[in-house]
Amino acid sequence: MPKSTVTFMCSECGGESLRWAGQCPHCQAWNTLQEFQVRKAGPGRKQAPAAPQSTGSRAVPLSDVESEAAPRRALAWGELNRVLGGGVVPGSVVLVGGEPGVGKSTLLMHAAQQVAANGGRVLYASGEESPQQVRMRAARLGPLSSGILLLAETDLDTICEAIRAEAPQLAIVDSIQTVTDAGFEGGAGSVTQVRESAARFMRLAKEIGVPIFLVGHVTKEGAIAGPRVLEHIVDTVLYLEGDRRQELRILRAMKNRFGSAEEIGVFAMGEAGLEEVPDPSAALLGNAAVAAAGTAVVVVLEGTRPLLIELQSLVNTTDNNYPPRRIVSGMDINRLHMIVAVLEKRASTKLEKSDIFVNVAGGIRITEPAADLGLALSIYSNTRDRPLPDGLVVIGELGLAGEVRRVGQLDRRLQEAARHGLTRALIPAGAKAGRPAGLEVVEVRSLAEAISAAFSSPMRSGAFIREAEASVT
Ligand code: TYD
Ligand code: MG
Repeated sequence: MPKSTVTFMCSECGGESLRWAGQCPHCQAWNTLQEFQVRKAGPGRKQAPAAPQSTGSRAVPLSDVESEAAPRRALAWGELNRVLGGGVVPGSVVLVGGEPGVGKSTLLMHAAQQVAANGGRVLYASGEESPQQVRMRAARLGPLSSGILLLAETDLDTICEAIRAEAPQLAIVDSIQTVTDAGFEGGAGSVTQVRESAARFMRLAKEIGVPIFLVGHVTKEGAIAGPRVLEHIVDTVLYLEGDRRQELRILRAMKNRFGSAEEIGVFAMGEAGLEEVPDPSAALLGNAAVAAAGTAVVVVLEGTRPLLIELQSLVNTTDNNYPPRRIVSGMDINRLHMIVAVLEKRASTKLEKSDIFVNVAGGIRITEPAADLGLALSIYSNTRDRPLPDGLVVIGELGLAGEVRRVGQLDRRLQEAARHGLTRALIPAGAKAGRPAGLEVVEVRSLAEAISAAFSSPMRSGAFIREAEASVT
């Protein structure tokens, strides 16, 4: 057995430390450090370099380094290719992470069937499910193909040997947490097993040029090693997200050595597995009911991609003495607290006795402040029980003084709104952007201006305009 030394690794951020501590020195998470045995390579055990290209031991002028145009193989789904950066790169290792049940195995079985349908061979190593279960899922997704070779195995050496022997166009390991090697410390799913197995797959992929997809469950913190400890080992990290009770699934690139780490792909989970959703705005707005008080449409950017999203607020006045409830799904609760404070101070909206519930439609998670103004108007609209006008889209970040701040890539956002037939946009004043045809663009400097602009639409009654204007002065 080769010599080993002990270090500690955080199951949250993957950071290493030489000593154990209650708190991770890198990400400050508590009780996440786990012992991790570093096995020293024994004599004669040659480690293939993980880097795709090497200059050998010689330093070369940067200008002489050949530019690497990574050859790619496009998969059938454009949404998947987009997230991968244009297709899968032979010899790359892609980690597909996500919560149990979100659809990782389904996604990869679709990819396997697509490669097989084009005459390719795929090796699917499953340690999670029995061959019967895998077959049942595959049959639900499409015709069973002889191009998919199933290996029900958890032993690292056996899986690696099979990949080497079959040299398939694509290999899938479902999941990395079930793979073990008797030579490594710890049981299946431990930091050592997961990390060392992933490193072996990296070397193998580079050596034989086969792309390998690894499934990684995002697990409760600290319990067993999650995909985070693998992020810096593999080439590409994708996370599949979405509310299991809803249809929409977002595949998000978190890291990509061969492309942008900003891209997302959108899918919908149905009876026959996943389908790509090339126009997610239409899917998200499709749910929009008739204008209801508390509903606002915003545009957020996911990578380079604008998405029209519907926000809903429900404001309910309570008589009890408890602190009012603030519940939000699909957004950071602190953003809601801030917007509520700005509404109270800058738009004379009394909310201290109101429960507020906010929901982002479609199970999407908004992380951009560009939705601030939309959220403020949605809460205002529900508080006054007045719907925002049909066809309105609201774009802008809100400052503490109630000022509407500019947001990036306004052009893209406006084009997306126009493309989906929205007719009026509130945008931050002074922001430079083209005016797409069919979209009336109204610049607003403050929350108060936004409220009067939104509710002074000819669609609303005069009485209400006066009310809105009076309430914000
Ligand atoms: P799965 O791919 O097994 O999830 P993971 O590998 O991430 O754990 O997907 C599981 C869920 O997806 C399960 O709750 C059922 C649902 N599902 C469908 O709704 N339709 C389908 O066609 C399939 C195959 C799964
Ligand atoms: Mg699975």
